Amino acid sequence: MSIRIAILVSGRGSNMESILRAINDGQLDAKVEVVISNNPAALALPTARKYGVHAVAVDNQGLSRVEHEKRVLDELSQYEIDWLVLAGYMRILTPGFLQRFKHKEGYFRVINIHPSLLPAFPGANAYDDAFKYGVRLSGITIHLADEKVDHGPILAQQSFERQDNDTLESFKQRGLAVEHKLYPAVLQSIAKHGIQLLPESVRQEEIVGK
Ligand code: GRF
Repeated sequence: MSIRIAILVSGRGSNMESILRAINDGQLDAKVEVVISNNPAALALPTARKYGVHAVAVDNQGLSRVEHEKRVLDELSQYEIDWLVLAGYMRILTPGFLQRFKHKEGYFRVINIHPSLLPAFPGANAYDDAFKYGVRLSGITIHLADEKVDHGPILAQQSFERQDNDTLESFKQRGLAVEHKLYPAVLQSIAKHGIQLLPESVRQEEIVGK
């Protein structure tokens, strides 16, 4: 089944572009209804338009978080959307915003990509943090969003190795190449099979066991 998505971005938009490219190449059965950036200068906006996608800035400057989210929701309300896809969206979402995407099974229909093997290295500088820590193995996580930052049920993870001669830049590039394959692949899996989560009971046991 084709899925209808909206993508939230803040900057470069390379993950967004990997999704749009996969759709164009027939590898992802999805339609991007709209791309929204909180940053009017985001490169992602002209890139989305190049693909014929409606792309708008909803500037957060001078607005409270809730007021900004209200404007984003107003924009989104013009579309029927199955999934909200976060692709380098550098804003924390409030519980009230997430509630608007609540599925009857309890999760939020909001997907995020994070460039570390969560729960390691959450936050805005995951590549830098993992590299500086000296990890030998890092990776990419795609997960459903919940009320905590870079947290929620994991849909997919893929690791990549740090090479001895890696610079931060080459480490990031290797990770980004993984991101650009993994995000379209996970979305395509959702389009075909829906989401595959570990049962709640198993996830709870893991938390209790800590
Ligand atoms: C990516 O590394 C993504 O995992 C993280 O922010 C970065 C966004 O890059 N959340 P881009 O805008 O998709 O190029």
